[in-house]
Amino acid sequence: MYFASDNCGPVHPKVLESLTSANAGYSPAYGDDRLTREVTERVREVFDAPDAAVHLVTTGSAANTLLLASLTAPWQTVFCSRVAHIHEDECNAPEFFTGGAKLTLVETENGQMTQDGLAAAIAAEETRGVHGPQRGPVSLTQATEKGTVHDLETLRGLTAIARAHGLPVHMDGARFANALATLGCQPAEMSWKAGVDALSFGGTKNGLMGVEAAILFDGERLWEFELRRKRGAHLMSKHRFLAAQMLAYLDSGLWLELASAANAACRRLADGLRSAPGANLMYRPDANILFARLPRATHRRLFAAGAEYHLWDAALDGGPEDEPLAARFVTDWSARDADTDRFLDLL
Ligand SMILES: Cc1ncc(COP(=O)(O)O)c(C=O)c1O
Repeated sequence: MYFASDNCGPVHPKVLESLTSANAGYSPAYGDDRLTREVTERVREVFDAPDAAVHLVTTGSAANTLLLASLTAPWQTVFCSRVAHIHEDECNAPEFFTGGAKLTLVETENGQMTQDGLAAAIAAEETRGVHGPQRGPVSLTQATEKGTVHDLETLRGLTAIARAHGLPVHMDGARFANALATLGCQPAEMSWKAGVDALSFGGTKNGLMGVEAAILFDGERLWEFELRRKRGAHLMSKHRFLAAQMLAYLDSGLWLELASAANAACRRLADGLRSAPGANLMYRPDANILFARLPRATHRRLFAAGAEYHLWDAALDGGPEDEPLAARFVTDWSARDADTDRFLDLL
């Protein structure tokens, strides 16, 4: 009954096999190896983007911040949702790596910035001449931190606003695979064809040991990105082991298979919660994250029985037993139906 985070799940056996087969003899370091060249081509094929610059890093925060740094001047501001990981959970790394750019928080509904909110936020910046921040990129998260997925029309609506102001678009795709499995579209449609210039393409939450691809679709900033990655201490020497993971991930559609399994587990949980007394879903659980309110007493009972998940902006102690408390549940590729069913029985 483990729903604390998809960061906590195991590495898929095929990824471990790929690491083992990469672990033979010597290979050039720092990305100058055969597997890294192969993975670059593979990512370009998957995204139908032959000119894309593809770089592997070990954390989602590195992918986000290094890409944003490549898109943002220090005197600019990045437009993001109020609940964006780059705002809430990266310890000001975007501000640090951009050399001091700021973040402008955009009005958010269901974890997604609204079009009116984005237009208003952009209009409100760059109005004070040399004294204020200049407009910079728009950063969207797909799937969002609240577990919702932007449909293609919504994505295109938001990127069109950025485009109308000549601003580039970054996508935090830590759970890109989960969102893609939900929409059932092509990777290109949910990225560059929808107006995304730079993508943090996640793998770690979906069965890898620790690899994310930072993709710049026009490839123009390739050298700048490489310099920033090295200067930011994110250029791995034994790079073949990053490439080996990503190759296994993309081989035979493993990445989508794993994301579909995680999403299916979330749907099973959501269906059960919908019919549970006192339970209320807080957002549409479109991918593998679900937020729900349950009475304090119910949380107490579930935790006592060994369920693992996080209360969200709430404390278990210090209030009435029937008070509804918010919680976040995350499923991963390895979730077992039997565990979900046990959780729902307890509920
Ligand atoms: C939406 C989102 N983006 C980025 C990240 C960053 O990942 P990392 O912890 O590997 O830096 C996370 C991690 O939880 C995330 O949920």
